[in-house]
Amino acid sequence: QHILVLHGPNLNLLGTREPEVYGRRTLNDINERLQQLAVESSATCTAFQSNHEGELVDRIQAASRDHTDFIIINAAAYTHTSVALRDALAGVSIPFIEVHLSNVHKREPFRHHSFLADKAVGVVAGLGSFGYEAALLYALAN
Ligand code: DQA
Repeated sequence: QHILVLHGPNLNLLGTREPEVYGRRTLNDINERLQQLAVESSATCTAFQSNHEGELVDRIQAASRDHTDFIIINAAAYTHTSVALRDALAGVSIPFIEVHLSNVHKREPFRHHSFLADKAVGVVAGLGSFGYEAALLYALAN
């Protein structure tokens, strides 16, 4: 089983970026933990971060060629703006879970809408980096 974890803009700054909102774990810490969990289940987990919408679209399209079974995506700010990411995910028809570190629903109203959520298997928000782990465990079990 192959799982792709996608991280959107500014998530490369995790650890130092508004730690009271996003926690103190770095993106590397999170990715390493996910990889460890995948290996324990004889699966593989590849992570990709980009600050560029088109690169995320390209990576989603590539997922349909590299036999990705499941996508876990924190599209960050693009969650609230990107029809292109929505169309890419719908286009490859690979099941995905949307993850947010923070509880977007108790933040600014513009964060309440997601262009991805109604296409997702599920959405996890507000559980910090544990949300990625929960999503991965679900993907591994399904
Ligand atoms: C985020 C929430 C988004 O609203 C924000 O733009 C982010 C991170 C989260 O993980 O909580 O960059 O996706």
